[in-house]
Amino acid sequence: MKTRIEPFKIKSVEEIPMTTVEQREQFLKEAFYNPFYLKSEQITIDLLTDSGTTAMSAKQWGVLMDGDEAYAGSRSYYRFENAVKKITGFKHIIPTHQGRAAERILFGVMCKAGQTIPNNTHFDTTRGNIEYSGANALDLPTAIGTRPDLEADFKGNIDLDKLREAIVEIGPENIPLGMITVTNNSGGGQPVSMENIRETKKILAEYGIPFFIDCCRFAENAYFIKLREKGYENKSIMEIANEMFSYADGCTMSAKKDGLSNTGGFIALNDDSIAEKCRTLLIVTEGFPTYGGLARRDLEALAQGFEEVMDVNYLKYRIEQVQYLGELLDKDGVPFLRPTGGHAVYIDAKAFAPNIAPQYFPGQAIANELYRVSGVRGVEIGSVMFGKEDENGNHIAPPMELVRLAIPRRVYTKSHIEYVAEACVEAYKNRNELKPLKITWQPQFLRHFTAKFEYIK
Ligand code: F0G
Repeated sequence: MKTRIEPFKIKSVEEIPMTTVEQREQFLKEAFYNPFYLKSEQITIDLLTDSGTTAMSAKQWGVLMDGDEAYAGSRSYYRFENAVKKITGFKHIIPTHQGRAAERILFGVMCKAGQTIPNNTHFDTTRGNIEYSGANALDLPTAIGTRPDLEADFKGNIDLDKLREAIVEIGPENIPLGMITVTNNSGGGQPVSMENIRETKKILAEYGIPFFIDCCRFAENAYFIKLREKGYENKSIMEIANEMFSYADGCTMSAKKDGLSNTGGFIALNDDSIAEKCRTLLIVTEGFPTYGGLARRDLEALAQGFEEVMDVNYLKYRIEQVQYLGELLDKDGVPFLRPTGGHAVYIDAKAFAPNIAPQYFPGQAIANELYRVSGVRGVEIGSVMFGKEDENGNHIAPPMELVRLAIPRRVYTKSHIEYVAEACVEAYKNRNELKPLKITWQPQFLRHFTAKFEYIK
């Protein structure tokens, strides 16, 4: 059979709000032209994030009831620990309430002010936590990884030559750890090859630098390796994941993604002394090490989620659903980052709205227009999220201006995806009427979440 179908049927449904263009124009105004301020009851299809928005399975809802809410030594923790160990092979599994808590604790223990942490591309909270600790977050994507128009199999790779150069220039003693993010979320949800992970480990080990994986979407990355990397076509997702983690000294995870759950995260690592320091900080800020700020029932849902995410039929559906949205956009010439990645389609805002310069936030203008025409919410990943001003107030733009349409796991059907594609085409037709924006207020860190905007008349 050629028809691609969702490999599940629907047992419980949730109504989605329908609104008019006039209502949405008013909602946008009230939201300071920042979709983060929109209320979910104003949104028809929410592609703001794939994080914590997963539909859980009947089995996950079932095990929630079996959660053991003991403060210490909960059996739900041991089930969670087993599931994570089976995939990652690490010795210490430290739960946290979400990914950024794992980051804050790990960087709090491992980094000092003035040090540098290289990565293929840091996610915004990773960068935020590093900068908050006074250290520097260094992105080292490959040249092709920052070209939305060029196709390649592993555009998420870290640039190995630049990594070595950076270590020599900065000095290994100033690099407390090196990271790779799989898949590379801020770089378009693009996968990282096994070869790149292996070589990164070799280079870091040569200089005695520990290697951590930011592994929120490790299963999607493993599926891409199976599809695209020679020698892995007959390996199981578990075998590929095991090999990926075997090269690392530890990882941080937001389990709100490939944990197929609505909350959760963890740090996993081998080093006893770092683990002990992390657990101490965990107790101070998150909770006892057998729950880490989570309800124990959530650990049950995660343990079950980690089993389900390794299913190759699920991963095939997942990646093909994202690909299908790309195919539909392609038919009408809407420019997007190629090829489509693991969890999202990223509209190429520079090509979509070339008349708006990066300092006037083309991605934000597109995200607003998309919402205005359809009630679909996406998120800007460009100058709002990663742009900076130099000391003279001149804008420093990131390499790409994107609008991410992140697809929640197991939530939307094929016809929802078709609606999203139609919405993008509609917004694209209006591209010459898009207006530049300016920021009227912003916080010190992670400004995209709460910044306020106005259109420049
Ligand atoms: N690392 C990556 C690669 C992420 O994508 C995220 C979250 C985090 C770390 C932080 O995890 O949210 O559980 O604290 N990404 C979400 C997103 C928010 O929309 O891409 P968290």
